[in-house]
Amino acid sequence: MTITHEDELAGLQAIGRVVADTLQAMARAMEPGMTTRELDGIGRTLLEAAGAQSAPETSYGFPGATCISVGEEIAHGIPGDRVLKPGDLVNIDVSAVKDGIFADTGASFALGPVRPEVDRLCRDGRRAMQAGIAEVRPGRPLAEIGNAIGRFAARRGYSLIRNLASHGIGRALHEYPEEIATWPNRDRRRIHRGLVLTVEPFLSLGGQRAVEARDGWTLTASPRALAVQYEHTVVATDRGALVVTRPSAG
Ligand code: CO
Ligand code: CO
Repeated sequence: MTITHEDELAGLQAIGRVVADTLQAMARAMEPGMTTRELDGIGRTLLEAAGAQSAPETSYGFPGATCISVGEEIAHGIPGDRVLKPGDLVNIDVSAVKDGIFADTGASFALGPVRPEVDRLCRDGRRAMQAGIAEVRPGRPLAEIGNAIGRFAARRGYSLIRNLASHGIGRALHEYPEEIATWPNRDRRRIHRGLVLTVEPFLSLGGQRAVEARDGWTLTASPRALAVQYEHTVVATDRGALVVTRPSAG
């Protein structure tokens, strides 16, 4: 989607706030002993209360309102009977549609105390996303997003999952420009003014690729390794990236 009118931006900001607030509320509600289905239920209730519908469910028939990936799972985890326990690394990804406009956000959280390297991975995952977002500006090549993230990851000794890309969004969950690399690349396409896209690198302690589990949805890293994902939906403006998926209150 390309923002050309103020009302389009207002609509995008409205659904951006909804998914961000939902993600934040789920993260705060998360506790050991809870199943991922219960956690997803909290998200569903909030989306419905805001007049929004789950994007993965309505767009792809995903069996849940949100994606909740625990431990060895890195994305597209199906909410279910899995019980959260202390020390789990949990990724929550919330995308939804309201009045025909989509937004997408995600974050990984350590549930209680974890090894220092996992804490560091979480902190750096967010910084990797920010390094990519800092490259969003009209006229710049899309490749610079992944190249900046690649430099950050190399400097800090991480791997990047290289087959889970960022994407254009707005009128659909995934739309032009599809497959925006968050790793070093030579994509020649350029960012244009008003373009709406996600920036969502997967930073890992050794994982290189995402592979699908037998359930047809859940993704794990190959080689097996922990990975984190942080995702914002942004608009390319002359002043840089405008992040539309920040929660409404701290
Ligand atoms: Co997402
Ligand atoms: Co996304």
